[in-house]
Amino acid sequence: MPDVSYVALEGDRIVGAILVTHWMGAPLVAELGVAKDRRRKGLGRALLEATMHRLAYLDEPGLSLYVTVGNDPAISLYRSLEFARSAASRHGSLGRLKVADAPSIRRRGN
Ligand SMILES: CC(C)(COP(=O)(O)OP(=O)(O)OC[C@H]1O[C@@H](n2cnc3c(N)ncnc32)[C@H](O)[C@@H]1OP(=O)(O)O)[C@@H](O)C(=O)NCCC(=O)NCCS
Repeated sequence: MPDVSYVALEGDRIVGAILVTHWMGAPLVAELGVAKDRRRKGLGRALLEATMHRLAYLDEPGLSLYVTVGNDPAISLYRSLEFARSAASRHGSLGRLKVADAPSIRRRGN
C-alpha cells in the first residue's frame, strides 16, 4: 500500500522505512526498520504514527503486524502504541490496532 508506506531520509540516505501491505483484507506492516546508527531517536515511532494517521484519514479501521518473540525493542514500541496481542505462536505474535482508538489519533481527534 504505497499511500501508507514511508521512508525517512537524511539527505539522500534512507535511514528508516515502513512498508505496509494488504493482507487478508486489512493493512499489515510488512517491514519497519531504522538504520542501526539512527535508532532510539523516535524515528520508528514517527514512521508508524505517520502510517496510522494516514490510515485514519483513509477510514481504514485497523492495522496488523507480526513481531518475533524476543524482539524487545519492537514489542516495546508496539505496546506503547497500544497494539493488542491477538494471536501467538512459538516464533512470534500477531498484533492488531484499531486505528481510531490509537492514543496519538485520539489526541489529535484524527
Ligand atoms: C524496532 C525499531 C524499528 C525501533 O525504531 P527506533 O527508531 O529505534 O524506535 P524509537 O526511537 O521510535 O523508539 C520508540 C519506542 O520503542 C521502544 N524501543 C526502541 N528501541 C528500544 C530498545 N533498544 N529497547 C527497549 N525499547 C526500545 C521504546 O518504547 C521507545 O520509546 P522511548 O524511546 O520513549 O522509550 C528498530 O529497533 C529496528 O529497526 N529494529 C530492527 C528491525 C525490526 O526489528 N523491525 C521490527 C520488525 S517487527
